Amino acid sequence: HAGKLWGGRFTEQTNDLVEAYTASIGFDERLATVDIRGSIAHARMLGRAGIIPEADAQAIVSGLEGLLVDLEAGQLSFRVEDEDIHMNIERLLSERIGAVAGKLHTGRSRNDQVALDMHLFVREATATVQEGIRKLQRALVQAAEANLDVLIPGYTHLQRAQPVLLAHHLLAYFWMLERDYGRFSDTAKRTDMMPLGAGALAGTTFPINREAVMEELGFSALYENSLDAVSDRDYLIEFLSASSLLMTHLSRFSEELILWSSEEFGFVEIADAYCTGSSMMPQKKNPDVPELVRGKTGRVFGHLMGLLTVLKGLPLAYNKDLQEDKEGVFDTLDTIVPALELFAGMVETLQFRRERLQHAFDHDFSNATDVADYLAGKGVPFRAAHEIVGKLVLQAIEAGTNLAGLPFQTYQDASAAFAPDIYERIAPGAVVAARASRGGTAPEAVTLQLNLAKARLSL
Ligand code: ARG
Repeated sequence: HAGKLWGGRFTEQTNDLVEAYTASIGFDERLATVDIRGSIAHARMLGRAGIIPEADAQAIVSGLEGLLVDLEAGQLSFRVEDEDIHMNIERLLSERIGAVAGKLHTGRSRNDQVALDMHLFVREATATVQEGIRKLQRALVQAAEANLDVLIPGYTHLQRAQPVLLAHHLLAYFWMLERDYGRFSDTAKRTDMMPLGAGALAGTTFPINREAVMEELGFSALYENSLDAVSDRDYLIEFLSASSLLMTHLSRFSEELILWSSEEFGFVEIADAYCTGSSMMPQKKNPDVPELVRGKTGRVFGHLMGLLTVLKGLPLAYNKDLQEDKEGVFDTLDTIVPALELFAGMVETLQFRRERLQHAFDHDFSNATDVADYLAGKGVPFRAAHEIVGKLVLQAIEAGTNLAGLPFQTYQDASAAFAPDIYERIAPGAVVAARASRGGTAPEAVTLQLNLAKARLSL
């Protein structure tokens, strides 16, 4: 079988459709750099361990280094006949240095090679994602700090509940992202394992030095079981899972920004640079960025489900099904990195509509809990207080006002425990300031929280 690295036992040409169907070069060319770096480490080890002559190892290493230079210059071209990135690189190496290139694959299989490549790739990808998370966290901290004096309605069931500091609401996303950051750090621990040396599945007959390869490539552990080494994709599932949760958070935030920027809420103006218009309706300014982030969350979930499904029921060790691990990981990375970047820029340029927010509480009942707490503070059992205030709310609705608009006589009729200071206690600023419990929304609690957040960022 002319031209195939594995052609020895074949007498027929590969069917064209089969060649196209089985090839992965269309997407795994993205592994070119890590593939070459992994091969350099392997070749050095082969030379040092005396498995191949040192001179051959040196020829291979400098050939591979030359390929790296060409790759960066965009001068390598891959062919579908060579199936995947591993065999493309090997072919390019042999074109460059001749038959000695054939010694590179000693004591190695594409099965442990591709596993190594994905570990190296995901290690870098994870670091990139973590940088993106940090950037968005910094933007959130900045926005929180710039809006420490602004209140915003807090909701449960999307019904007005209690007012909160805008900074408090923004920092809620900081902590979600902090957990995301931690989840990517956890994934990184299981990615930090070196599979090379597993061979096709059972190890190798050559006296290889796996520890040397591990150290050269900056890994801190190696797989202790060759079957596991070539068939483990758990670290990719963890990456997709951490990414899914990250996207869940960005999607929730997106939903809020979409709501808040509507005329009905009118809490925020997203900068023009982050919006688009309508081809028909001249007045439109649409929040496309959060909408797309919300929408793209679906594809990331899909990639997670996809890979879980690929692995389910897969016998040990390598099966070609595992080639399906790559596109979802690449697409996930390409989805989350720009989402984080865009979100950071969008958050930095959000204009909160302070006027609207100031008047947001003029007609609502989000201070009702405080009226009940007031009575409870005067010794009325909270359950009874709740009932009394419920009735006051009803009376206010009937009178077309809110709790601050009820005359003092009404309060007195409801309970003798009310004194005229009730009015100052239920002003929105007072309501927020009263929640000074740790993790609460009072300015002092939020300032403490903000400082803790900044400490996480070493700000
Ligand atoms: N392209 C393959 C993959 O992505 C590389 C490993 C192939 N190994 C094999 N025995 N066919 O999984």
